[in-house]
Amino acid sequence: MAAQALADSGRRVELLVVEAGEPSKSIDVAAALWEKLAEQQADRRSVVVAVGGGVVGDLAGFVAATYNRGLRFVQVPTTLLAQVDSSVGGKVGINLPQGKNLVGAFWQPAAVLIDTATLTTLPDRPYRAGLAEVVKYGVILDAEFFAYLEQHTEALLARDHDVLRHIVARSCRLKADVVQQDERELTGLRAVLNYGHTFCHAFETLTGYEQLLHGEAVAIGMHCAACLAARLNRIPQSLVDRQRSLLRQLKLPIQTPNVDRQQVLEAMRRDKKTVDGRLRFVLPSKLGHVELVDGVQPDDVLAALDEAALSAD
Ligand SMILES: NC(=O)c1ccc[n+]([C@@H]2O[C@H](COP(=O)([O-])OP(=O)(O)OC[C@H]3O[C@@H](n4cnc5c(N)ncnc54)[C@H](O)[C@@H]3O)[C@@H](O)[C@H]2O)c1
Ligand SMILES: [Zn+2]
Repeated sequence: MAAQALADSGRRVELLVVEAGEPSKSIDVAAALWEKLAEQQADRRSVVVAVGGGVVGDLAGFVAATYNRGLRFVQVPTTLLAQVDSSVGGKVGINLPQGKNLVGAFWQPAAVLIDTATLTTLPDRPYRAGLAEVVKYGVILDAEFFAYLEQHTEALLARDHDVLRHIVARSCRLKADVVQQDERELTGLRAVLNYGHTFCHAFETLTGYEQLLHGEAVAIGMHCAACLAARLNRIPQSLVDRQRSLLRQLKLPIQTPNVDRQQVLEAMRRDKKTVDGRLRFVLPSKLGHVELVDGVQPDDVLAALDEAALSAD
């Protein structure tokens, strides 16, 4: 449909389709796309339009960043996760057998075009998983937005048109503001977007990326991170409860997966964002504000995991 609309406007359009799913973010698929661009004699005037979820955005963006030393590209995200997160910020890339997103670039899209109507066909589970990142923006940057989400849980689950417009637009604005201040993740400011993600990545690694959708692991990770912040006396228990209640109302999981706690620590130490094995977390200090906390003690992380598990039921 998007290709047809572009063709109707008089442009030459070539449609390149990839298989759905994370395995398409590979060297082989990227190479096949480079070759197709070459066959079609793509040049500096060509524009790559990525229509799809985060997989298509990351892959097509990476191909655009690398082909002919860079083609312009436009993101047209069609999943909630892609609309509120992956299409904004310019991170593009593919996976290696050794790890996710190991090869990539910072390559900003010329535009991000979002039509929330595309979300009508998205199944419930990935839709709700996308909401986890939306809750994240409220916790880390915008207490008022968090309260808005609390007041609109029914409408959010029903995918109300106006509510969707608001949350997608607000999420993009909040992420873009952060990225603008630290585009290449040099000052640490962009790290605030990783709230809940240190726990999340450990759970994803230990459960093999199949049991949990990313957004689900983010929800659990945020619950763990809030428990850790409360344990370190950075926030009152009431904030842990408030976040838990919102996540639950949005039908997101908060119970930690059945994995060994010591292995969670090990996975965190191996995380590519960990420096010198020191445990670093993005933790809230109040609703709408987070700080990067370095050198957290392993015992506190273990205790937070226990508390998160106990308070999740
Ligand atoms: N670049 C970034 O900053 C960034 C940030 C977060 C995540 N990501 C990446 O995003 C990827 C995950 O993205 P995702 O969650 O969108 O998954 P996805 O792209 O795999 O899409 C999920 C599924 O939904 C289908 N789909 C897409 N749009 C649909 C629609 N409108 N209706 C019905 N089905 C639809 C897809 O075909 C796919 O099967 C991961 O590879 C992750 O690494 C990147
Ligand atoms: Zn995420």
